[in-house]
Amino acid sequence: MGWIDRRYQVTPLFEFLRHKEVPIGSHWMGWYYLGGVTMFFFVVQIITGVLLLMYYQPGEATSYESIRILTTKVPFGWLIRSIHSWSAHLMIVSLLLHMFSTMMLKAYRPPREITWVSGYLLFLLTLGFGFSGYLLPWNKLAYFATTVGTNIVKSVPLLGDWLLQVMRGGQDVSINTLYRFFAGHVVILPLAFVGVIGLHLLLIQRQGMAPPVGTTTAPRGMKFFPSFALRDLLLWLACLMLLITFAVFLPYGPGIPGMDWELGDKADPFAPAYPGIKPEWYFLWEYQLLKEFPPHLFGLEGPQICLFVIAILLGIWAIIPWLDRRAYRNLNSPAFTDFGWAAILFLTYLTLMGWDIGAKSGSDDPTSLQKSAHVCALWTLAAGAVVIIVRGWRFKHRWFILTGAALLQVAVHGLLGLPYLVAGVISAGAAFVIITAMFLLGRASRSSAG
Ligand code: HEM
Repeated sequence: MGWIDRRYQVTPLFEFLRHKEVPIGSHWMGWYYLGGVTMFFFVVQIITGVLLLMYYQPGEATSYESIRILTTKVPFGWLIRSIHSWSAHLMIVSLLLHMFSTMMLKAYRPPREITWVSGYLLFLLTLGFGFSGYLLPWNKLAYFATTVGTNIVKSVPLLGDWLLQVMRGGQDVSINTLYRFFAGHVVILPLAFVGVIGLHLLLIQRQGMAPPVGTTTAPRGMKFFPSFALRDLLLWLACLMLLITFAVFLPYGPGIPGMDWELGDKADPFAPAYPGIKPEWYFLWEYQLLKEFPPHLFGLEGPQICLFVIAILLGIWAIIPWLDRRAYRNLNSPAFTDFGWAAILFLTYLTLMGWDIGAKSGSDDPTSLQKSAHVCALWTLAAGAVVIIVRGWRFKHRWFILTGAALLQVAVHGLLGLPYLVAGVISAGAAFVIITAMFLLGRASRSSAG
């Protein structure tokens, strides 16, 4: 140590780590472990990805064949592929939990705005990993799902055709697309990810974890070394056991659409597309939202307006630390907590519908879709009721306008059968009227008190 310290002065770093503490406050400590769990799955992705690369050969004749040989002939090749796939899904689950928990705890409030933005970039990069990795086996399912997925960028105003060309390396999904996705998946995205995660972790080390809202220092602290770090380690071990159990017993996924990595047939660009192609589960909400827009709306193309809506929603999510003015002043911001829950219910309903829960499988007839919307609405409303009861009873929350609006849309669409967009306009209108009335009443009572 002395030898290293004389050359690189590492003592201050060790002193910093020795004194590092994690705040223990009014909320459950478990939320503080989710970033670490996400990182654990990312490390698994890197290790198994490198192992897969030792056999995978991108190319028209080799992509599919190399994965087939890997899973049937190479000792434990099937297990490495299965761990890589399972870990990708589990990483997205823990990433979503981490993102929504930091949002609800308002960990984005000053001085952690850039921690939020860097995390948001990690979220986009992770989705990029999922999208680009899907095509690499060059099987039929991946080919058609990528055709449908890349087609969406065509609707981007002005740049759509150019973007499609850049993504596909031509007009159609071809082996050029695979080369581009391969470069993205194994070089560009990992480099960008490592850079951004470096920033994310650096900021967390610099600023520490956020204490509960309303305080600047937590009532108590837990030593990071060894207390928190050992708990982290124990949790990673549990995650490893869960991962291996899934990977061994369900090597090709649970077999539900969007979570299935059975190799099937090799991609054939001349084969007819088969119906019922679905993207991975975490893209289902966008896929379903696109389906809810008519081909033309107000003289514009429906998919264009839908992409615009998605861009606005993602944009709002990125700049939440600056929109939430109360959290900015270290005050509770119940409206933004409610916004987070409304977002979860909005995504849940669309995802369930995208999964065709309650519909005849693969059927696109209106009666079956209406039945599916009905069943999905009942599930979402039940989940919403649980959320409202727990928030009101356990956490004494009183702000439910946005959750209420999200549930109203679900009920009007799924139970009354009105079109999804009409239901959206009704519920957004209702929320707008209530919030405006509350604002005006508040102002009137303040001025009469004055
Ligand atoms: C692969 C993705 C990610 C990894 C590996 C990661 C990792 C971490 C780690 C290890 C921590 C410290 C422990 C903790 O609070 O859990 C953390 C904190 C944080 N992360 Fe992430 N993160 C990721 C994505 C995100 C996303 C998508 C967001 C939000 C958009 C986000 C926002 C934050 C914030 C605001 C904190 C500070 C929490 C606090 O101070 O209490 N992160 N992250």
